[in-house]
Amino acid sequence: MTAIVPIQPGTLSLAAMHLRGGGLVAMPTETVYGLACNAANPDAVVRLYEAKGRPRFNPLIAHVANMEMAEQEAVFSDQAREIAAKFWPGPLTLVLPVAPTGTVSDIARAGLDTIALRMPAHPGARALIETFGKPLVAPSANRSGHVSPTTAQHVKEDLDGKVDLILDGGPCDRGIESTIVSFVGERPVLLRAGALETPALEAALGAPLIAREEADGISAPGQLKSHYAPNARIRLNAEAPEPGEGWLAFGETPYPGLNLSETGNLREAAKNLFAALRTLDTQHDRIAVARIPDEGLGEAINDRLARAAHRD
Ligand code: TXA
Ligand code: MG
Repeated sequence: MTAIVPIQPGTLSLAAMHLRGGGLVAMPTETVYGLACNAANPDAVVRLYEAKGRPRFNPLIAHVANMEMAEQEAVFSDQAREIAAKFWPGPLTLVLPVAPTGTVSDIARAGLDTIALRMPAHPGARALIETFGKPLVAPSANRSGHVSPTTAQHVKEDLDGKVDLILDGGPCDRGIESTIVSFVGERPVLLRAGALETPALEAALGAPLIAREEADGISAPGQLKSHYAPNARIRLNAEAPEPGEGWLAFGETPYPGLNLSETGNLREAAKNLFAALRTLDTQHDRIAVARIPDEGLGEAINDRLARAAHRD
């Protein structure tokens, strides 16, 4: 049994003690809950991959508390530094060349010479990194391939007994993972649509982002077609539920079910998405999902839904 504890000075030092001993601690972030360990400890990183059942070729994001920590781990171009200054702390991950002074273990980077870095905005995540004093690698705190967790209880459902402590910071405000942009090549590439809307990034860059599919030689390991997968079968862009289907609505609807946002608000829909999928999954073998507009945050929501619906 893994304990769920509120975030306080005492539980933060307990969590840091687990981390120093090579343990695993689940922490809230503004996007989804992460499963954190000492980024520099290869044994801890191996434990983390095993707890999630995550394939070793899928690298992890290192979470930092400040720019000093970030610049020790990665080489920032002027453009990458500008984007970090504008959007950090926040739901944006930058993929950058690894710095010679980097401390993150090879295994956490899946042997790549690049590193994914994020400075989370959630006060709980920040307090944990600051208390520990060094970068924490943290994938989403779910079983590999399953729906990402947006509450401490979701983490417990997936990983009870496999992690040392779960820090409870309440439901995640954004509800969908960070946007990932690579600054490794000539021009920035969007590796994963996420909680920071692409148009906001493009406005700051003054140019459109290159899509992953169009970028040559950019490594995007772990972007699997089937992911975020509930047990139920998912039918997308549905006009109405069929008999026997659970209904995941968006905007006004005459049918009973769960609604991502009655007012058709994408921010609210992103926040509710993973919890709604988990709930409907316990009640139905088949789930019909209403059409979500593909603009702004809808891009990231539809990406997650497509992966949830995909069967290999
Ligand atoms: O919002 C988030 O990003 C959450 C919270 C906990 O921070 N974390 C998260 O981690 O979503 P995870 O492990 O579920 O997804 C990390 C993604 C994977 O798709 C992985 O392949 C990619 O980041 N990634 C990590 N390092 C990379 C690298 N060097 N190059 C390209 N992609 C990388
Ligand atoms: Mg994940």
